[in-house]
Amino acid sequence: MMAEPFWIAGAPEHGTDDLVVTHPYDGSEVGRTTLATAEQVDRAVQAAADVAAEAAALPAATRSAALDHVSRTLAGRAEEVARLITAENGKPLIWSRAEVGRAVSTFRWAAEEARRFSGELQRLDTDAAAAGRMAVVRRFPKGPVLGITPFNFPLNLVAHKVAPAIAVGAPIVVKPAPATPLSALLLGGILAETELPAGMFSVLPIANDAAPALVADPRLPVVSFTGSGPVGAQIRRSVPDKHVTLELGGNAAAVLCEDWSSEADLDWAAQRIALFSNYQAGQSCIAVQRVIVPVASADRFREKLVAAVEALKVGDPFGDGVQVGPVISEAAAERIEQWVGEAVASGAQLLTGGKRDGSSVAPTVLADVPADAKASCEEVFGPVLVLSSVADDASGFAAVNDSAYGLQAGVFTHNLQTAFRAHRELQVGGIIVGDVPSFRADQMPYGGLKGSGVGREGLRSAMEDYTDVKVMVLTGLDL
Ligand code: SIN
Repeated sequence: MMAEPFWIAGAPEHGTDDLVVTHPYDGSEVGRTTLATAEQVDRAVQAAADVAAEAAALPAATRSAALDHVSRTLAGRAEEVARLITAENGKPLIWSRAEVGRAVSTFRWAAEEARRFSGELQRLDTDAAAAGRMAVVRRFPKGPVLGITPFNFPLNLVAHKVAPAIAVGAPIVVKPAPATPLSALLLGGILAETELPAGMFSVLPIANDAAPALVADPRLPVVSFTGSGPVGAQIRRSVPDKHVTLELGGNAAAVLCEDWSSEADLDWAAQRIALFSNYQAGQSCIAVQRVIVPVASADRFREKLVAAVEALKVGDPFGDGVQVGPVISEAAAERIEQWVGEAVASGAQLLTGGKRDGSSVAPTVLADVPADAKASCEEVFGPVLVLSSVADDASGFAAVNDSAYGLQAGVFTHNLQTAFRAHRELQVGGIIVGDVPSFRADQMPYGGLKGSGVGREGLRSAMEDYTDVKVMVLTGLDL
């Protein structure tokens, strides 16, 4: 296969060492690129630094036109891009198509926000001493951004770094996950069709062990990382003087409240939880990992949940109607199998699943899992659900909070007071009322508390994150 070029300062290049990309389902080669050499990485970073002032001064029309172009092009090539995502990531086509649709929306939102991002006027003549004065409050890029992206959404989580950077006029260097660089490279090709100045973006496949040098590079003052907790923590420790945004993992919980108890309620929750603990084979930071149910409805719910999980269509991610495919690699599947085995050895009940075939793990439900078993307290990032029961809503909320993580939670209730209480008390970045924690609209603030990270993405939030406020005071005005 021909090696796909990577992108340095908007132009295609090749490195010296091949990076072969394989299909997680059967290990076949789906494409290849090359790893950028140290000299190429240095050139990309220097180009970003060199163009920073020009990029910050680009008219909104140029920035939004480029973002619109990406959005429209992705929409026009949606099926091709979805198939590429499935090929390199292994997620079933339904989820890849959804991801492309979201990336179209991410870039469209960024184009719209770029037009709106105007700052504000603040009158200062509220004090006699400041008569005739007015503040113009605007935001300016902190400087070039390093975006490090994960394998689980190889297009849309790249979009969440790139689109807000372009929207505010910040150059960006992207390091995609080595397992799934092809979608990011395709995006680089679309960006290269725009009128953005050279240097505004680079997409560089580099090995993970070459990343620390890039993170430390003083020419990239902003680091935006999405990935695992330990790597995120290491980045934060290594560059305390940089602006670092971390979107890390979680062991997201769905909690059924006491009022959520009719047959129809339990059916809906069981269907949604079954699907969204297994979508993308559980490889989403907001896939449902823990489900917490009041003891009064626990038996009825358990039966419905296991039936819904067993009804999921598992198999070849290119297959018709398949909902659950492989995880990213056989090594990842082995680790998940081991965690399930460990939980069972320490007393958990295996209600369904627990089997592995190569890189595919059967959708699995466990009950009575000890709190310190990894399948419960760590991020599984696999199709594994841990079911527990509690006496009442208060203990349900305490169970949600009994976690080192805090990204999103699903709160199944019809009661507005309960919803507001959950919003106040749950230690998470977002709650979804009446549905699973796995819902994300790309424009909404997204990020976690505790071990789930710092900072927020979502177009407007990321644009604020990439910029600093500066005030200009005008004097002698006839207000
Ligand atoms: C993530 O895994 O953090 C991203 C989830 C999403 O964008 O839906």
